[in-house]
Amino acid sequence: MMAKMSREQLDRGVICSSAGNHAQGVALAAQKLGCDAVIVMPVTTPEIKWRSVERLGATVVLKGDSYDEAQSCAKQRCELEGRTFIPPFDHPDVITGQGTVGMEIIRQLKGPLHAIFVPVGGGGLIAGIAAYVKRVRPEIKVIGVEPSDANAMALSLYHGQRVMLEHVGGFADGVAVKVVGEETFRLCRELVDGVVLVSRDAICASIKDMFEEKRSILEPAGALSLAGAEAYCKYYGLKGETVVAITSGANMNFDRLRLVTELADVGRKREAVLATILPEECGSFKKFAQLVGPMNITEFKYRYDSRKEAALVLYSVGVYTDSELRSMVERMKSSQLQTFNLTNDDLAKDHLRYFMGGRSNVPDELLYRFIFPERPGALMKFLDAFSPRWNISLFHYRAQGETGANVLVGIQVPKEEMDEFKNQAENLGYEYTSEMNNEAYRLLMQ
Ligand SMILES: Cc1ncc(COP(=O)(O)O)c(C=O)c1O
Repeated sequence: MMAKMSREQLDRGVICSSAGNHAQGVALAAQKLGCDAVIVMPVTTPEIKWRSVERLGATVVLKGDSYDEAQSCAKQRCELEGRTFIPPFDHPDVITGQGTVGMEIIRQLKGPLHAIFVPVGGGGLIAGIAAYVKRVRPEIKVIGVEPSDANAMALSLYHGQRVMLEHVGGFADGVAVKVVGEETFRLCRELVDGVVLVSRDAICASIKDMFEEKRSILEPAGALSLAGAEAYCKYYGLKGETVVAITSGANMNFDRLRLVTELADVGRKREAVLATILPEECGSFKKFAQLVGPMNITEFKYRYDSRKEAALVLYSVGVYTDSELRSMVERMKSSQLQTFNLTNDDLAKDHLRYFMGGRSNVPDELLYRFIFPERPGALMKFLDAFSPRWNISLFHYRAQGETGANVLVGIQVPKEEMDEFKNQAENLGYEYTSEMNNEAYRLLMQ
């Protein structure tokens, strides 16, 4: 798009809003074309991202808590200053530019190719690649990959029209988009062979695979296609075929590696997270250890609970085969030790595992996950909204280098005050979801 701009337009400069690759793409193009670029990014953008943009010579403006706020600021400045707005995905020239990735793949290709897996945010990259590849090599499948909690394209294709997501998972922040583009959707509907959805754990497992194979670190959105390719090949039992996965980014915040390493083995099904109820009596721990048997315990948490006759242990075990795990759970069951598999419960993995020993019966407790903007004052604003009106009975937050902080909050609100509470929560403006029905919460915390 920028290569087509006149010298006069270039001299007036460009502006864009983005928290992903687009910011760096525009900054690099501006540097090459000798034009001034302003990139507006949300204040929550990880430092590694805005520093890379600055290094390319663009002026970074941090504005707004979300992408939408950054975008409206960029559009305002574009009108005031006469700059050209460069949209992140929904423009034919931007899509064409992204299509050059497809051209490079086809040019470098030796022999047949089964499929190309492409990460999908607003759909620019996949639309461009599909437009090129389907024209020159229509037999090659073009398959999109989205995080299962940021699945705007998959849902839109399913419903035959663009769907706006209410909540978007921020883990793969490069592709965290609420609604796909109009033009990108039109092209994807016509050209794309399907979309694979992958979990956060599977993305982490792919980041680990890439590190082990190549000593390279991918950011979550960058590892998305690898996770999708793997899930697809496994599902269809594909062997001896060539597939390409586009690993699109490496802006990995160092802090986030902590979460990635914690989840990678779960994602590869090499670790399982379990809870077992043990009678609070001498010898039961030993019996439990015998039943775990040869399996390697990688995490173990237990705290005496004076209110209960039964104790709960939360633990993780290394897993080599599914049958090994199944037989262990069977051994527990046949010894009357009730065991729960929490491996797929994000709430347990993100928050509850850190609370072990804190089970209590709190009257009127509500449990919510809030997404706090990652900036000073966010906690105070939250507390101002609810305290001292209601008692906060639980609070857990651990920085994971995400754009928005994922905070678990317990709060005591009597039924008759629910409407007032909901009003306050809406006015606060932080995204939030109820976790009242989470099974692990009942098991571990109540
Ligand atoms: C790391 C990364 N991967 C993939 C994409 C592709 O996104 P889109 O579908 O919006 O073209 C982006 C967009 O910024 C990105 O930052």
